[in-house]
Amino acid sequence: MNDFARAQDLAQDSSQHARGEGLEAFWMPFTANRHFKAAPRLLARAEGMHYWTPEGRRILDGTAGLWCSNAGHCRTPIVEAIQRQAATLDFAPTFQMGHPLAFELANRLIELLPSDFGQVFFCNSGSEAVDSALKIALAYHRMRGEGQRTRLIGRERGYHGVGFGGISVGGIPGNRKHFGALLPGVDHLPHTHNLEHNAFSEGQPQWGAHLADELEKILTLHDPSTVAAVIVEPVAGSTGVLIPPVGYLQRLRDITSKHGILLIFDEVITGFGRLGSPFAIQHFGVTPDLVTVAKGITNGAVPMGAVFARKGLYEAFMQGPEKSIELFHGYTYSGHPLACAAALATLDVYRDEGLLGRAAELAAHWQQALHSLRDCPHVIDIRTIGLVGAVELAPRAGAPGARAFDAFISAFHDHDLLIRVTGDIIAMSPPLIISASQIDEIAERLRCVLSTLA
Ligand SMILES: Cc1ncc(COP(=O)(O)O)c(C=O)c1O
Repeated sequence: MNDFARAQDLAQDSSQHARGEGLEAFWMPFTANRHFKAAPRLLARAEGMHYWTPEGRRILDGTAGLWCSNAGHCRTPIVEAIQRQAATLDFAPTFQMGHPLAFELANRLIELLPSDFGQVFFCNSGSEAVDSALKIALAYHRMRGEGQRTRLIGRERGYHGVGFGGISVGGIPGNRKHFGALLPGVDHLPHTHNLEHNAFSEGQPQWGAHLADELEKILTLHDPSTVAAVIVEPVAGSTGVLIPPVGYLQRLRDITSKHGILLIFDEVITGFGRLGSPFAIQHFGVTPDLVTVAKGITNGAVPMGAVFARKGLYEAFMQGPEKSIELFHGYTYSGHPLACAAALATLDVYRDEGLLGRAAELAAHWQQALHSLRDCPHVIDIRTIGLVGAVELAPRAGAPGARAFDAFISAFHDHDLLIRVTGDIIAMSPPLIISASQIDEIAERLRCVLSTLA
């Protein structure tokens, strides 16, 4: 089939899909399938700050896709790097073999981190990054003769992907309840979200650092010597942009260090410039032992995840006979050549356009634009940090989540704006290339959405 015929076919498919035909076979993830398939919301093309629907409507992207496309969509250097790589080395195993791009990428990533970090482990998603980090933490203690450290501690309202490890340490009831007993030996910190004390805080809330001390209580219950790792998102994204209170993360660091417990930051959302520095590590000045990333690592263009390990962890594994495998873990596509090429090109774009610091330049404008919605109907909280923000709505009586879902539908269909909702919270994380006037545009369109919301 030539390109013209293929394009005609695609156009026909799109209009058929827009009518709700031909949609049954794809079991869509985290989607109300029946509702979607009755009135589909389709995206056919993207460029920069926008998506286009099959019928040609231009949608302003308020969410960088799904917190992924930090440099905006279909960036030429990234597209070309993927095309070149696909024609040069489509696949190469990284089990007992290697290819140069994976090593180059690991070195480039380490350069973005504080000098405490030494190694990068590659995988294909945030979920895999989390499961890899948890396994590395458990194996690390065993390697050092502390195999009794088997417990893992997460946090309520934490999202760490959908692997069994991730949902076990995660704290979203809906993601856990259908899936059996999960991992044993997992406990959870309380979340830090508190509207009574912190509603409409600007930046980090002042109240709540003491919630980190709950960790001491959990450790007393289990005995600290049984705990391998504590995992938190520095800013919890998926459950509605929960910003850590001033001093909270440092307290977690102090407590974990005191007891020889590894601290894992899940930076799948906060990584790659979302807060105005390469990682949340630099933004908050707190250094964990392991960091998980995905999404922005390739600008969302090819699936990839990674775990960054602090110096000393890898060394603990480098024992035993030289010809024996040290870590029995990995994925066929760990360090996939296309993902590496996409990531290297992405890092070049981030560097050349100063994107890893851009959220810091725009943060005040973003904060002021979102906080201007304070007087809109139903709004009970607004919070922002870097270029991420949330508008929390009062739930409708007896129908939690319904109001924000209506906002999502109205934003897309009536105001050409892509937002994301979780419960009754509207969450936004636009590409870091956004202009000040596009920030105003998002706020204006949101105002229209909120003013007509029942
Ligand atoms: C903090 C965090 N961790 C892990 C994940 C899972 O990533 P993935 O969907 O790529 O598996 C996400 C996804 O949103 C996330 O926000």
